[in-house]
Amino acid sequence: MIKIAPSILSADFASLGAEVEDIRRGGADYVHFDVMDGRFVPNISIGIPVLKSLRKATDLFIDAHLMIVEPVRYARAFCQAGADLVNCHVEADSAENILAALDQIKSCGKKAGVTLKPGTDAMAVEPYLDLVDLVLIMTVEPGFGGQSFMHDMLPKIETVRELIDKRNPGCELEVDGGIDPVTAPLVKRAGANVLVAGSAVFKAKDRAEAIAAIRNS
Ligand code: DX5
Ligand code: ZN
Repeated sequence: MIKIAPSILSADFASLGAEVEDIRRGGADYVHFDVMDGRFVPNISIGIPVLKSLRKATDLFIDAHLMIVEPVRYARAFCQAGADLVNCHVEADSAENILAALDQIKSCGKKAGVTLKPGTDAMAVEPYLDLVDLVLIMTVEPGFGGQSFMHDMLPKIETVRELIDKRNPGCELEVDGGIDPVTAPLVKRAGANVLVAGSAVFKAKDRAEAIAAIRNS
């Protein structure tokens, strides 16, 4: 089943509750919550207090994408603030500390994911694959919404899909960056089942239509 996860990075933060209600009614499966610390990526976005408020405003599944260094320092806090799934970048710390972060997330009773930047090899998921509920492959350099999809990520999506099918078939495969009705069929064909879309959903007048167009393309 294909799931659509609109990224609130392209939403109007002054009306976040209403924006998320709009995508919930529009058929979104997850809400994708992008956290940036100005160090792991050259931009700063939102964090724990906003997540806490959003948790009170919606029962939609919240997928937190931590673009922060040393996610082990904050993994538990994001779980407690109300994330349903917490994604850590494999590049953000040593393997030992990423494993510790995943362990904390699981012991909070939440789902855990690992994320790969475009320059990171597919095989970097290996040490985590048996533990995670989701792998996220970036199809743009993390940090900003509205960038163009990197077509050269398609073989990596195919490789990770093969690894998941062999080792942990229940694990989801998510893609993030430049997803719209034109690029969605490419990533689905390569094996992705959760599609993040920021500008293609939130910049559209009719979000339900935009979500359906990505799902059904
Ligand atoms: C980028 C973020 C994405 C971003 C996607 O660093 O992780 O989630 O919001 O935006 P679009 O869909 O506009 O590329
Ligand atoms: Zn993201």
